Amino acid sequence: MHGKIELDTSMAEQFVRQHELEYIEPRVKLAHELLQANAGPGSDFAGWVHWPQQYDREELARIKELSSQIRDTADAFVVLGIGGSYLGARSTLELLSHTFHNKLSREERNNAPEIYFAGNNISPVYLSHLLDIIKDKDIVINVISKSGTTLETALAFRIFRQLMEKRYGKKEAGRRIIATTDREKGVLKALSLRDGYETLTVPADVGGRYSVLTAVGLLPIAVGGVDIDELMAGAAAGYHFYSKNTFPGNPCYLYAAFRNIFYLKGKLIELMAAYEPSFYYFIEWWKQLFGESEGKDNKGIFPAGLNFTTDLHSMGQYVQDGYRNIFTTTLWAASPAVDLDIPVIGDDEGSDGLGYLAGKTFHYVNEKACEGTMLAHAGGMVPGLKVVLPEISPFYHGMMVYFFERACAISGYLMGVNPFDQPGVEEYKKNVFKLLGKKS
Ligand code: PA5
Repeated sequence: MHGKIELDTSMAEQFVRQHELEYIEPRVKLAHELLQANAGPGSDFAGWVHWPQQYDREELARIKELSSQIRDTADAFVVLGIGGSYLGARSTLELLSHTFHNKLSREERNNAPEIYFAGNNISPVYLSHLLDIIKDKDIVINVISKSGTTLETALAFRIFRQLMEKRYGKKEAGRRIIATTDREKGVLKALSLRDGYETLTVPADVGGRYSVLTAVGLLPIAVGGVDIDELMAGAAAGYHFYSKNTFPGNPCYLYAAFRNIFYLKGKLIELMAAYEPSFYYFIEWWKQLFGESEGKDNKGIFPAGLNFTTDLHSMGQYVQDGYRNIFTTTLWAASPAVDLDIPVIGDDEGSDGLGYLAGKTFHYVNEKACEGTMLAHAGGMVPGLKVVLPEISPFYHGMMVYFFERACAISGYLMGVNPFDQPGVEEYKKNVFKLLGKKS
């Protein structure tokens, strides 16, 4: 029996009056109707909304088959992509796999290959060092790009194509490259047809940052050994819970509403904090989702991330006491993936002063750190929301992804922007190509 992800507003309520929630309620309900009926701004890219119910089952079966072939063939699996074609897979693997995945033995990794990411920067150092690491390994590549023209990914792919063709010959290289791209068009699709790469589809109506539950995320995630059926089941449960037009009963809509109320009060920065380092890339994914969806028309909450308790010793001072334009959202798992007991040792009477914690667990201490921090921040006029997962698992990860995607869309509609386009990103791409002398 599964539970669901909840929103704890106890450290935020003192900053919001009841009538503010009442004012926003009809707007939340309208935003829901627009989203649910595919009738709002940007609805050409709202294919992810009903995706947990309507995803392509045949493609999912093919992903599972491909992933087990890759797990049998590759020592190292290299995923090339950037932004929405990168962060979903990486964040899922970082959260659900062993922290030191690539350092484990094959057996300890349950037959998963080592996994590396590239094509997400233009650094010659990063790429050269990666080439050093994989030089004696059998590799399989997954190049992911919806447009097929993204510079960072295309440049890295050029390096890997050359390496693969030299190492395996053109035909075998073709069998070891999987391209995830548009079903019909684009350079990468054309190249795949020419050189015989297996292809998977980025649905035309799903934008990069909303694509983790498509082949974009699912192939790397499955290769890493995460149960993608569970992930999709969690997303479907998320669809069931969070597409209800109830307010304030729907925690996903309540989150969207609270952040918009804070925004109107001048809280222009949302700090997402987690107390597990494995959430680091999830926060990166969330930053892209909200930053790219809301930051337009000269509006938007600036999404930033903090890794607690680590950053309490660096950024804690600012959050507690600096400029008062921030609120926090804490990601919290009620039970951790693994816990550790604090040992009872012989000289507990005063050696390191920690005798009072002996017999407790690290999770218990982390939880108290979280409670104490949120209390302190609220006292310092920083409202705190808390998104609570019952546990860290593929199921709840799928649910969490859907929770935030849906919250982002509703929040964008409340803010009066199109949450599904990214004109600013296109602007940067255009300029770089022009400066590099690309002929269109
Ligand atoms: O969300 C987005 O649209 C972007 O972050 C893209 O995913 C990113 O720019 C990569 O684009 P593409 O998949 O076309 O290579």
